[in-house]
Amino acid sequence: MSSLYLHIPFCFKKCPYCDFFSRVGSPEQLEEYVELLNLDIRILQQKFPHNSPLETIFFGGGTPSLLSAEQIGSLLNNVKGTFDIADNAEITLEANPGTVSLGQLKGYRQAGVNRLSLGIQSLNDKHLQLLGRIHTADQAQDCVLAARAAGFNNLSLDLMFALPDQDLSSLEEDLSLLLELRPEHISLYGLSFEEGTEFSVRRQRGELTTCGESLYADQYRLLHERMNVAGFEHYEISNFARPGYRCRHNQVYWRRQGCLALGCGAHSFVADGWGERWHVPPDMSAYRQKLQNGQVVCELLESFDRQGAMTEIVYLALRTADGLSRKRFRRQFGSFPEELFPDAFRHQAERLKLVDDSWRYDLQGWLLYDHLISAFL
Ligand SMILES: C[S@@+](CC[C@H](N)C(=O)[O-])C[C@H]1O[C@@H](n2cnc3c(N)ncnc32)[C@H](O)[C@@H]1O
Ligand code: SF4
Repeated sequence: MSSLYLHIPFCFKKCPYCDFFSRVGSPEQLEEYVELLNLDIRILQQKFPHNSPLETIFFGGGTPSLLSAEQIGSLLNNVKGTFDIADNAEITLEANPGTVSLGQLKGYRQAGVNRLSLGIQSLNDKHLQLLGRIHTADQAQDCVLAARAAGFNNLSLDLMFALPDQDLSSLEEDLSLLLELRPEHISLYGLSFEEGTEFSVRRQRGELTTCGESLYADQYRLLHERMNVAGFEHYEISNFARPGYRCRHNQVYWRRQGCLALGCGAHSFVADGWGERWHVPPDMSAYRQKLQNGQVVCELLESFDRQGAMTEIVYLALRTADGLSRKRFRRQFGSFPEELFPDAFRHQAERLKLVDDSWRYDLQGWLLYDHLISAFL
């Protein structure tokens, strides 16, 4: 395993659309959590010694930028003392623009973070307000400038589309403003109404209008075209990179390679055999108690058989522009994908293209991905 994920399940304020495992945290809770994570790192390495150097480290959340530069530094020092880290490792931290200062960003950079992923979401104040964000468009733009001033030359920006009452021209304006910030990487997420969120309740009450299928498709195509013209490679359904700036950490997930994940609510993948998924239950008091007793906190969630591994490989690979390699698939499973899934390939012949001996969806295929992929599951 050559990747490490650290989950920070705290936010300054919960956004009404988000169902990620996180809750509002006080400075005292954050301080305690950093100590628990440091314990987690040591115990895990004692019980499951890990030898190959880490190629990617990712602080995700929640909002990792609620932690100070000193706290991130202490976690990274502990990781460095416990694991080998490759010289050119990608070390990403997710940040909410409403939670960081120039000094803090400089501190992250000095601590070893070399990639920032900023949750911009929109550059339109009306939409930011609707999304319940804690920052304005000006603050989000200033945050990008501050990140550059702090020495970050690998920035990823998140933008949401398909927002209530968002038309094509307002999305185009958002994207133009985002591109003016010259990021290396952009993630574009269509707003989804997740069960249990305030947004989903408001939608059921008829208080929020949802983006219809045809407008969604127009918005997705517009984003794809504009990003292409701007020199970005559309390398995964929701992700775009300038040449050489794909997110190495997320590629580990899509390639179904191993990733060790620490922290309350985190999920690890062990690539031995057909693969195993482990998780740390999202229960902070159980997390605290087990660590204080010196116990391992992760539990086996799923052990894959051949069929399960095959399905997941197809599911993940078809999200990417690299697609599903026929040769690699045959090495793993003894037959080509079109031999094992003949009906799906026959019905989707128009959407599945063979490029460099890999199967991949065209743009329309990605647009219909949730529907099409069910034929392989
Ligand atoms: C962990 S957050 C990013 C960092 C930080 N917490 C923030 O919000 O600024 C990951 C990203 O998921 C996306 N996201 C979360 N909930 C979503 C939803 N319901 N629909 C679409 N995108 C969503 C947002 O774009 C967000 O930036
Ligand atoms: S979008 Fe980010 S800041 Fe908002 S609740 Fe989700 S993780 Fe927290």
